[in-house]
Amino acid sequence: MNTEIRIVGTGSYLPEKVLTNFDLEKIVDTSDKWIRERTGIKERRIAAEYQATSDLGTEAALRALKMAGISPAEIDLIVVSTITPDMFFPSTACFIQKNIGAKNAAAFDVMAACSGFLYGLATVEGLVRGGRYKKVLLVASETLSKITDWEDRGTCVLLADGAGACVVVPDKEKHLLSYNLGASGEFGHLLYMPAGGSRLPASVETVKNKKHCLKMKGNELFKIAVRVLAEAGMKAIQEAGIKPEDISLFIPHQANWRIMKACARRIGIPEDKVFITIHKYGNTSASTIPIALDEAVREGRIKEGDLILLDAFGGGLTWGACVIRW
Ligand code: ACO
Repeated sequence: MNTEIRIVGTGSYLPEKVLTNFDLEKIVDTSDKWIRERTGIKERRIAAEYQATSDLGTEAALRALKMAGISPAEIDLIVVSTITPDMFFPSTACFIQKNIGAKNAAAFDVMAACSGFLYGLATVEGLVRGGRYKKVLLVASETLSKITDWEDRGTCVLLADGAGACVVVPDKEKHLLSYNLGASGEFGHLLYMPAGGSRLPASVETVKNKKHCLKMKGNELFKIAVRVLAEAGMKAIQEAGIKPEDISLFIPHQANWRIMKACARRIGIPEDKVFITIHKYGNTSASTIPIALDEAVREGRIKEGDLILLDAFGGGLTWGACVIRW
């Protein structure tokens, strides 16, 4: 019986438009030096006006399907992680289903902010192991630029757009060796978008006061992030029955290079095993991990049998980590 899961294809898509730190210097009171030293970001990608989250996700999905050698019609489930859906409803998963022609697939979104890809993977694992779904597309896609306050230097220098995807199938061997998820709702106010939901429906006032933009208390999050990421990562390693030195590649959520470095140090993973994309893509929320995973696979940084640690935290707060034997 194939009761385990395996990732058999990865894909990613980054919009063409590059926004550099020097471009941002012209928009807000900041500097290339500050952004590079405090975050590790040099440039990021920004979606075109006509591109919605599903458009980015569709490209990433098609690339993952191509690598897997699976046609859209074979897909029986599409799960999309995003905090920037095309609309409140229908789900972004339904738009992607239509775009790729996956007419035999069920489709829904999961929302766990920057931890969304790992929450999505855990959801898919349960559904595939349950035996009902055999060829699943997991997509994380974000257009954070569309909910960015371009006058807030505390957030606009960090946020960016991009999508990553993977195809998951059942397998005899155990590849997802361990995973854990967590949440702490009492810290929800550190990273959120106040308006547009039932608590504060859209109005002229909410638009005027920029309540449809992402709000973040960066330095409060920073301290929690390092601790939570390190704890989740260490738990995943322990539950996989391995040691930190067994990890071939560490792919943390790309929110800040200083957070990633501190977290790797706490776990006991050397810096040269940390896979970094933040310098060129910034923070794309749920998408950072699958984008990095796809790049690592395509660059040959991940080989069959390698042990990979994925580790994320984000709004909610939410967090999660997993160890995969590739
Ligand atoms: N350019 C120049 N100066 C700035 C900027 C900027 N863009 N932003 C803040 N500053 C200033 C502040 O005003 C402050 O000045 P002061 O000392 O005169 O008051 C100084 O820089 C230090 O500000 P801090 O907020 O303490 O800077 P910090 O070193 O904490 O870096 C940052 C800020 C980059 C936001 C960091 O706190 C961080 O990365 N936090 C975590 C963010 C995160 O991980 N979020 C979760 C994920 S978000 C998501 O994924 C969608």
